[in-house]
Amino acid sequence: MSKSTNITWHESGINKEARRQQNGHYSFVLWFTGLSGSGKSTVANAVAQALFEKNIRNYVLDGDNIRFGLNKNLGFSAEDRTENIRRIGEVSKLFVDSGQVVLTAFISPFKEDRTQVRELLEADEFVEVYVECPLEECEKRDPKGLYKKARSGEIRDFTGIDSPYEAPENAELVVNTFNQTVEECVETVLAYLTNKKFI
Ligand code: PPS
Repeated sequence: MSKSTNITWHESGINKEARRQQNGHYSFVLWFTGLSGSGKSTVANAVAQALFEKNIRNYVLDGDNIRFGLNKNLGFSAEDRTENIRRIGEVSKLFVDSGQVVLTAFISPFKEDRTQVRELLEADEFVEVYVECPLEECEKRDPKGLYKKARSGEIRDFTGIDSPYEAPENAELVVNTFNQTVEECVETVLAYLTNKKFI
C-alpha cells in the first residue's frame, strides 16, 4: 500500500530509447537467483567483466553490498526479503531506463517476488538466470561460515536450512556451478544474450 499521495510522475526529456541509442546497446536486467554460496556474485561479476570488455555499460547489484546501504534496515524474515527484492526490482528498472545492463545477485528465494520484478519490466527486459548448485555443495563451500552457524542455531531463517528456496521452473537460463566452471557459465550466458540479440 502506497503512503505517497499528491505526487506526479515527471517524464524526462531524454527517453530510454535515446539513451540506448547513445550507448549503442540494449538495456535489460540479468537476474541471478540461487542459494547462498551457489556462485551468483562470482558468475554475475564475471559476466559483467565480459560485457565491460565489449563496451556494454553495466552494473552489478549484489545482495551483501546492497544490505550495507540502501537495504540496511532489512533482515531475513519473509517480509524483509520480499521488500528487499521489491526495492531491487525498482532500482533495476531505473538502470534499464538509464540505458544500462544491470546484473543482480540476490538469493531472491520466493517465486512470487521474482515474478513481481518480471512484471515491473517489459517482457524482453528481464532475463532470469538460475544459478543451480546442490545445497550439500553450497554447504561444503560455506565461504562465509554461515551454513555452519545456521546448523548450530546461531543464525535463524537461513535459506535452504530453515527458510525456503523456491527454484525457478521457467528461468530463461540455468547455469550449474557444480558441473560447470565459471568460464563455462559465462559462455552460456553470453551465448544466450547473443542468440537472442540482447547484445
Ligand atoms: S534475499 O533472500 O534475496 O533477500 O537475500 P540477499 O539480499 O541476496 O542476501 C543474501 C546474503 O546475506 C547473507 N545472509 C543470509 N542469507 C540467507 N539467509 C540468511 N538468514 C542470511 N543471513 C545473512 C549471505 O551472505 C548471503 O549472501 P550470498 O552471496 O547469497 O551467499
